[in-house]
Amino acid sequence: MLIVKTVYEMKMTRSKIQTNKRVGFVPTMGYLHEGHLSLLKKAREENDVVILSIFVNPIQFGPNEDLDRYPRDFERDEKLAQEAGTDIIFYPTSEEMYPEGYSSYVITEGLDRHLCGAKRPGHFKGVMTVVLKLFNITKPHSTYFGQKDIQQARIIEQMIKDFNLDINFHICPIVREEDGLAMSSRNTYLSPEERKQAIALFKGIKRGEELYKNGERDAEKIKKEVEKVVKSFNLAKIDYVDIVDYSTMSPLKKLGGKSVLALAVYFGKTRLIDNTILE
Ligand code: PAF
Repeated sequence: MLIVKTVYEMKMTRSKIQTNKRVGFVPTMGYLHEGHLSLLKKAREENDVVILSIFVNPIQFGPNEDLDRYPRDFERDEKLAQEAGTDIIFYPTSEEMYPEGYSSYVITEGLDRHLCGAKRPGHFKGVMTVVLKLFNITKPHSTYFGQKDIQQARIIEQMIKDFNLDINFHICPIVREEDGLAMSSRNTYLSPEERKQAIALFKGIKRGEELYKNGERDAEKIKKEVEKVVKSFNLAKIDYVDIVDYSTMSPLKKLGGKSVLALAVYFGKTRLIDNTILE
């Protein structure tokens, strides 16, 4: 496994990969967990060369967010990446990605209006910008994103389409702990009691799915019931519970086609997200 730290070195390494080899790319911010490993596994199965990027992207964090305390452990990541069959880790510094004078950004008009986009202004501008840069540097044939960050996945899928990038986009299922909590690097922030109660999101999702299966199509009614479940956990503070159309990421009144029940919930300072697709 090769570890590459500069853009130049990554581009040189990429240019030496034979043109008949398929390249799969998994972008991450590190502190790898089973969710990331499932993306690497899929990339391994479908490609000749697997590139993983580990970069805690400063421009996707708001001023009061957790950039400084975001968990980092490169040695651990390196070991896990190797076990998952990664060929190349691209591990740049912030100075490498955003050198002095950096001034170009990518935005979406519409897909970031609700859910996390509304709660974290500028977040998706930071995500889109870094992902487009990473795509340009690694030039993958295929890329793999997790469903847990569903709005991010949708925005990147649309960016690939809108910018005519020749990249196959894959969205992979949410990987959960045994009790249902969606895997996230941020789970490490939780105190033991918060960790116990963090299943509130999964319980809320299960309630929403149950109502949907029983024929409920009124978004407001489903949301109210989900909120009730989440609020029954005394440490849970709801940031949002919303039901949006899958393709536009805009709120729905009545569920029809493919829609998403999405939640963001605080436990202390830790903000967790989760979702389920209803169709
Ligand atoms: O999902 C993440 O870890 C990040 O948002 C990503 C896609 C690596 C961009 O920094």
